[in-house]
Amino acid sequence: MNLTSLSNKELAEIISTDKYDEELIRSADAIRREHYGTDVYIRGLIEFTNICKNDCLYCGIRCGNGNAERYRLSREDILSCCENGYELGFRTFVLQGGEDPYYTDEIICPLVSEIKSRFPDCAITLSIGEKERESYAAYKEAGADRYLLRHETANSEHYSRLHPDNMSGEHRKQCLFTLKELGYQVGSGFMVGSPYQTAENLVEDLRFLQTLEPDMIGIGPFIPHKDTPFGDSPGGTLELTLRMVAILRHLFPKALIPSTTALGTIHPLGREMGLKAGANVVMPNLSPVKVRKLYTLYDNKICTGEEAAECRGCLERRVESAGYKIVVSRGDVKR
Ligand code: 5AD
Ligand code: FES
Repeated sequence: MNLTSLSNKELAEIISTDKYDEELIRSADAIRREHYGTDVYIRGLIEFTNICKNDCLYCGIRCGNGNAERYRLSREDILSCCENGYELGFRTFVLQGGEDPYYTDEIICPLVSEIKSRFPDCAITLSIGEKERESYAAYKEAGADRYLLRHETANSEHYSRLHPDNMSGEHRKQCLFTLKELGYQVGSGFMVGSPYQTAENLVEDLRFLQTLEPDMIGIGPFIPHKDTPFGDSPGGTLELTLRMVAILRHLFPKALIPSTTALGTIHPLGREMGLKAGANVVMPNLSPVKVRKLYTLYDNKICTGEEAAECRGCLERRVESAGYKIVVSRGDVKR
């Protein structure tokens, strides 16, 4: 099965089929094994603030959600998450947060430098949204290696239906190209089954990614959050998300593709199925258990209860049960 030469129309047809395409999934796994064997890379995710100045209509931590209990982790909290993560075998730390004005460049840069000097064999990934080129350059200078910024949807009309007027899809894409120019390893991606999304939109997402050529592509099902304008909208399905993971593996044979927490949230074995459909990364939570419930982008998020301290062991067993193996390494992309 070769998807690389398909037309937009043919891709849209594969995307909109409602049958579980065993051959698509099997061949995606074969491509993944060709480049990465059974290796699964892990990233320790530190969700350090749920305060956000943006008001994305789908997101539970949007500034307009007055029901969200807000938190910020201190520098010491964050460093101790890294310490703990290092002991557990993590060699990449992902600092993710809302667009929180409190964390100025003057706070982020020394923090990145400190993590880098304490853990020189680790990669540092930032996921803190749209910033000025100067800020991105300063983070890089301070030691950041990678940046995650999902484009969310490549179609500008669709983008504007999911975001308030003061945000633009074009600006977000511009940020991604800036990050690449600055030498970051870049991760982008989109939600599957977001409100108003069509198969043609998803094809546009794939085409946009082909021009961006990111190192990592993160996708997960849209899951409604009750305190948002899309609280009653249907979520993205397991089948479509798995199909999109497999299509991504076909079109981006060497990409880093996480099997996301959102996928694990809509089905108890969602992440295992994501791995079998071509994903090769998992990003468990390293945040202190006391704040995990508060970083709720969507409802029913997994790994937020008392079992959460055990994520590393739990994940190890899950990955092995799917036929793969977690490796202790930075997990850089193969080029
Ligand atoms: N359902 C699924 N994913 C969501 N995200 C934000 N809100 C939701 C939701 N309701 C995703 C966005 C964002 C990433 C951090 O989480 O794609 O980029
Ligand atoms: Fe988090 Fe299983 S991966 S508890």
